[in-house]
Amino acid sequence: MKIEFVAQDAPAGKTCAVAVIVFEKGGMSQAAEALDKASGGAVKRAIAGGRFAGQMGQVLDLIALHGVDAARAVIVGCGVKDDFDAKVMETAAAHAYQAVKASGVDTLIVRLPGAPAEVSARAAFGVRLAAYRFDKYRTTEKPDKKPSVTKVKIAVDDPKVAAKAFKADSGLADAILFARDLVSEPANILYPEEFARRVKALTKLGLEVEILGEKEMKKLGMGALLGVGQGSVRETQLAVIQWKGAKDPAAQPIAFVGKGVCFDTGGISLKSPDGMEEMITDMGGAAAVSGAMYALAARKAKVNAVGILGLVENMPDGNAQRPGDVVTTMSGQTVEVINTDAEGRLVLADALWYCQQRFKPKFMIDLATLTGAIIISLGKDLGGLFSNDDKLADNLLAASRASGDILWRMPMPAQYDKNIDSAVADMKNVGPRYGGSITAALFIQRFVNKLPWAHLDIASTAWKPNSTVPTIPSGATGFGVRLLDRLVADCYEG
Ligand code: BES
Ligand code: ZN
Ligand code: ZN
Repeated sequence: MKIEFVAQDAPAGKTCAVAVIVFEKGGMSQAAEALDKASGGAVKRAIAGGRFAGQMGQVLDLIALHGVDAARAVIVGCGVKDDFDAKVMETAAAHAYQAVKASGVDTLIVRLPGAPAEVSARAAFGVRLAAYRFDKYRTTEKPDKKPSVTKVKIAVDDPKVAAKAFKADSGLADAILFARDLVSEPANILYPEEFARRVKALTKLGLEVEILGEKEMKKLGMGALLGVGQGSVRETQLAVIQWKGAKDPAAQPIAFVGKGVCFDTGGISLKSPDGMEEMITDMGGAAAVSGAMYALAARKAKVNAVGILGLVENMPDGNAQRPGDVVTTMSGQTVEVINTDAEGRLVLADALWYCQQRFKPKFMIDLATLTGAIIISLGKDLGGLFSNDDKLADNLLAASRASGDILWRMPMPAQYDKNIDSAVADMKNVGPRYGGSITAALFIQRFVNKLPWAHLDIASTAWKPNSTVPTIPSGATGFGVRLLDRLVADCYEG
């Protein structure tokens, strides 16, 4: 997708769609008025003749308007004018793109005369997110089935200023798309070492990346993480990403930790085949952390941040770990593995411990597609937030509202903790069926050593088979990238 900022009177043409915005209760934008005038009042007549009321999400697609040099004109509702802001523009531009992407036009021009640069920039951002498509393995798709729009122009008062404003947003869009690509890749392509290679390539942004292999992890005593990968022919990896953007490169960092299970068969506690293919997304936490580190580096955030990824494949095999096995974690605590499908918490146990030992961070946030139970609890639009610290939790909730990656805080009642006590080891990796996401969080908490910590269970939000949000095409969402970037920008920089 090519996106450029052009002068507000830039010509359209017969292969173009022109988009203008209107508000609820007849509020026309400057560009909508101009289009109406050029078409001899056709725009207002079209609005008057139907149910289009300028509400957010409403789009009117007008074809072959007399007096307008464009194939189509898209009238995009933006809701009440007083509530209009950059965020509304982002969604509205995405709606405009979705409305014409497969219409046959090759160019979409969004006319935004009079809009502040920040608003114009967010229009471009919305289109970038909306136009995401993972189609690299589709070799026989007919051209007339692919999106026809290949170019988007944002027509503004001062294209240079708008382009500059978009620079900041553009890095975040790249980061989100990077995360979406990781989540979308099948597991035969994206196994732990390949994931590590793709993260290693981020050194070009100024990130420092180290990769630990099984030998090093064994030395560190990471018996839980290594146990998960024991049945896989692929080597388990631990990626350590550092961004040193604070004035003092030795200042205490903040830390993100991601579950990177490149494929989760369940192991010997094998999952049922229905929908198992979705387990290519079980590295969504690691993808979000990678994307967040990407975003921080792209905008040179004034913060020291660490991202740790536990990259592993959970396979059944003659060498795989068995239910009943006892593993020793890096913390020294032992775990009875009751169910090999509850592997994410084993991955996080060692990754979190390593993170604390080595970096002594201000706080840690882990992201993981951890439990099916969180989908039962919260549905597909909300991520679960568990935390031992109200301040960190509140900051996350605020960032979640600002970013649109919505979180909902979940309880961590102390009396449930005993549910993971084991008769043969320090704990077992599953509790009772009810409240499964909570037990999982309590398990992870046993590996948090007196520092603020939050756990985001994103099994609900990492993958949306049927999305209705125009900036999130169905499939990988990139959930968490914007959230963490926002959190850092609003609370932990400078
Ligand atoms: N990767 C799954 C969780 C998951 C489910 C992610 C659906 C995305 C969509 C996780 O490793 C898992 O299998 N959890 C088990 C835990 C159970 C065995 C205690 C689950 O949720 O069933
Ligand atoms: Zn599992
Ligand atoms: Zn899993």
